[in-house]
Amino acid sequence: MSSATLKIDDKEFTLPVMVGTEGERAIDTRKLRADTGVVAYDQGYGNTASCESSITYLDGEVGVLRHRGYPIEQLAAYSDFVETAYLIIYGELPNATQRKDFGLLIRINAGIETQMQKIFEGFPKDAPPMALLSSIVGSLAAHYPQLATNNFETDLKNFDLAAAIAISKIRTIGAMIYRYQRGLPYVGPRQELSFCDNFLHMMFSEPGSDYTVAPEVAKALNLLLLLHADHEQNCSTSTVRMVGSSAANMFTSISAGISALSGPLHGGANTAVMGMLQAIHDEGDDGTRFIAAAKSGSKSNRLMGFGHAVYKNFDPRAKIIGKACDEVLKKLGIDDPLLAIAKNLEQAALKDDYFLARKLYPNVDFYSGIIMRAIGIPMNMFTVIFAIGRAPGQIANWREVAANPKGRIYRPRQIYVGPTKRDYVPIKDR
Ligand code: ACO
Repeated sequence: MSSATLKIDDKEFTLPVMVGTEGERAIDTRKLRADTGVVAYDQGYGNTASCESSITYLDGEVGVLRHRGYPIEQLAAYSDFVETAYLIIYGELPNATQRKDFGLLIRINAGIETQMQKIFEGFPKDAPPMALLSSIVGSLAAHYPQLATNNFETDLKNFDLAAAIAISKIRTIGAMIYRYQRGLPYVGPRQELSFCDNFLHMMFSEPGSDYTVAPEVAKALNLLLLLHADHEQNCSTSTVRMVGSSAANMFTSISAGISALSGPLHGGANTAVMGMLQAIHDEGDDGTRFIAAAKSGSKSNRLMGFGHAVYKNFDPRAKIIGKACDEVLKKLGIDDPLLAIAKNLEQAALKDDYFLARKLYPNVDFYSGIIMRAIGIPMNMFTVIFAIGRAPGQIANWREVAANPKGRIYRPRQIYVGPTKRDYVPIKDR
């Protein structure tokens, strides 16, 4: 094993160097504080490996993304969301029997019991969908206490069922949020339908009607969900791991992850991108104003859908989605002016020194909103779709934490920069 030498003042310390299966190297600093009295400072953990994981490999410098070794391009071309979910969760592609059993467990757990349906009534109809989603997913721990015992061993024993419930019901809850907000009666799942057909049925069918899902629409949704299925130690997945590390059950941990996903710098970016494209369209601008504003350096003026915390090259998912966008719109016979605006904006930004110097390329959210709009998903539901897609990754990461016998509770350090010790002053003297 190789090692690194750290010199603090005139004292030298040796630190082990770990190597991942793809050759990534990391200095193991776990004993740094105990041995030296010093901690590592890494705001936002951008340079810190918080865990060892065998789920997803990502090389942001060259735009590589693989789940359990399989390139995202191959999964997008040949697999589907449910099969990829199995791969991400269990580590191998399923054989025919495993695929059938997994699919069946998801199908038979799609329904939402009457008592749980009542939770919706407690929320204002115009509440942000992600606020509803995280709360209602969190309530799964209350509805299935036998699967959510907050004990690693027991929860792992019931893992298969809990995982199927999470994947299936997050989707059903998503469809119910859509209907609740519109004052529409709930439409229950149909067991014979595939995962995406069932979701579209629950969202768009009228009770008793023969709604049929257009295959292009289901296919596009399938691709979107698959492309979001996992993405290494992003903000929401790390949140799931952090919450799970306290032995909190899977449902509670995923609910926390969904909250993290709701922010516009993360999963909320797809909504923000569409808002930006729509504003450009409404103003009749060609995007110049937005590009100029984005270069000001202010966080609130960023070019949404551009840049990524780890991709410093094209986001491989954005390449796949950008291509699918053209195909889906063509198949559905839709001419969306926002697609042309997005393409122009992308071209303009890719020629601009500001974006080139900072390696800011379109990310997964840049084109996903245009596909969702084309298949009838309203803008305020975009991040909910992302959350439905991300469930397998969150489940797999929770499991890795729960199953790690050497795992520790997540507990970072800080550098305190507040006031030093001072004495209390009674209120009359302040
Ligand atoms: N528009 C304009 N400038 C940007 C953008 C952007 N979208 N993104 C980053 N920058 C600038 C920063 O201001 C910084 O400039 P500086 O060096 O002059 O200070 C430089 O590029 C480097 O950026 P970082 O701060 O290192 O980027 P970071 O890794 O912190 O942020 C993030 C990544 C949050 C994704 C950022 O690029 C961003 O806000 N993008 C827009 C929101 C978005 O699309 N989010 C979705 C990400 S994908 C996902 O979560 C599914």
